[in-house]
Amino acid sequence: MVLDSKKSAQLNFDDQEIDLPIFSPNLGPDVVDIRKLYAQGDVFTYDPGFTSTASCESAITFIDGDKGELLYRGYPIDQLAEKSHFLEVCYLLLYGELPTAAQLDEFVPRVTRHTMLHEQMAYFYRGFRRDAHPMSIICGVQGAMSSFYHDSTDINDPWQREVASIRMIAKMPTVAAWAYKYSIGQPFIYPRNDLDYASNFLHMCFAVPAEEYNVDPIVSRAMDRIFTLHADHEQNASTSTVRLAGSSGANPFACIAAGIACLWGPAHGGANEAALNMLREIGTVDRIPEYIARAKDKDDPFRLMGFGHRVYKNFDPRAKVMKESADEVLGLLGIEDNPTLQVAMELERIALSDPYFIERKLYPNVDFYSGIILDAIGFPTSMFTPIFALARTVGWIAQWKEMIADPTQKIGRPRQLYTGAKHRNYTDVENR
Ligand code: SDX
Repeated sequence: MVLDSKKSAQLNFDDQEIDLPIFSPNLGPDVVDIRKLYAQGDVFTYDPGFTSTASCESAITFIDGDKGELLYRGYPIDQLAEKSHFLEVCYLLLYGELPTAAQLDEFVPRVTRHTMLHEQMAYFYRGFRRDAHPMSIICGVQGAMSSFYHDSTDINDPWQREVASIRMIAKMPTVAAWAYKYSIGQPFIYPRNDLDYASNFLHMCFAVPAEEYNVDPIVSRAMDRIFTLHADHEQNASTSTVRLAGSSGANPFACIAAGIACLWGPAHGGANEAALNMLREIGTVDRIPEYIARAKDKDDPFRLMGFGHRVYKNFDPRAKVMKESADEVLGLLGIEDNPTLQVAMELERIALSDPYFIERKLYPNVDFYSGIILDAIGFPTSMFTPIFALARTVGWIAQWKEMIADPTQKIGRPRQLYTGAKHRNYTDVENR
């Protein structure tokens, strides 16, 4: 979009007056354009953690943290979770519009027919220890993918960018499912083109060659909804990692591997695994006050996993849908009175009435309830973040494609506030 500024900000210091253009977006806060600040004023801005920094222009996802609103290309996440399905959401994120029936009929088989991995990649898995965390495996396999699909690594060729995008969206369920199978010593199950995206993933995870495995439609619908809820989320840490890697011209497979690595952290995508482990450690509702006290204790590094968010200062809309889905799926699966769900709901109730959490606007985020559903489906906690990565692959790719296609994009290269030693000369060891 061509940005036009109707107003500006004045920065006055050291007898300088610098005019900085202000741009108004379609949604969200105005932005102050500081791109010429260093050249004009010989100063940097300082914003570790980028709490007040817009890193790019984007038209893909919008978050209103105060309202607790999340839009994919303008469509509210709760409507998409209820009425759409993941491959339709992939189309929306990649191309900007909901597909017509004909466009969807063309898109789905393009994904379905790319779900198999190069047969040599199966040997790559065998280089890992059986007890390797599935995130270490999918991060390695994803990075290695660039050595198998050389014909779609030229980022300057739009057709190769498209092929690489479809390949990664299609293959990530196979990559993640095979990481799970490898970790439990079971044989790899090949993808099946007669199954929808979520059912195919579940089949590759839970089928065994020894007997028929029929995917439960309730579970498949819940899985598909979890994919939709995790698909994209503006300029979060892993998406920013993908954009920064892509800004150097790195091939798309390497950029997504970088995103997987960043997502693994417990402050980010690793929180779903950490949240369920925390709920299990709490165990019963009578132990909740002890953990609330620890979360508030500045001398204790413990935090309530699945709580708080850099942007949401209200309920994470995904957590709301996830909570409703947890109730529904557990009920339909006959898992009544799930103790972990009881602890989660009571922990949420207590935390949201505690001044510490209220003052800091800390609410449950997407990771607070997702683990309960994934656990009920039968996944080990170690598979929670790989499932997050699987779903987020389309968001990373959509953001990467948007950046590559932006004629103004250049390599990301932040500066610093240097507080190290000033200039000094080398001294020989005998003089130190
Ligand atoms: C995801 O960015 C995205 O969009 C990410 C994501 C996506 O879809 O890509 O939404 C996915 O990563 C969700 C977040 C998952 N992480 C967790 O659930 C881990 C637990 N949450 C926290 O670590 C924390 O809330 C963050 C990392 C999510 C956000 O941290 P910020 O924005 O840097 O906030 P902060 O650390 O400055 O906290 C502000 C205050 C601090 O207290 P004071 O110093 O002001 O006294 O709130 C406190 C914090 O100590 N606080 C918490 C807390 N989170 C913040 N206290 C207890 N428990 C928590 N979970």
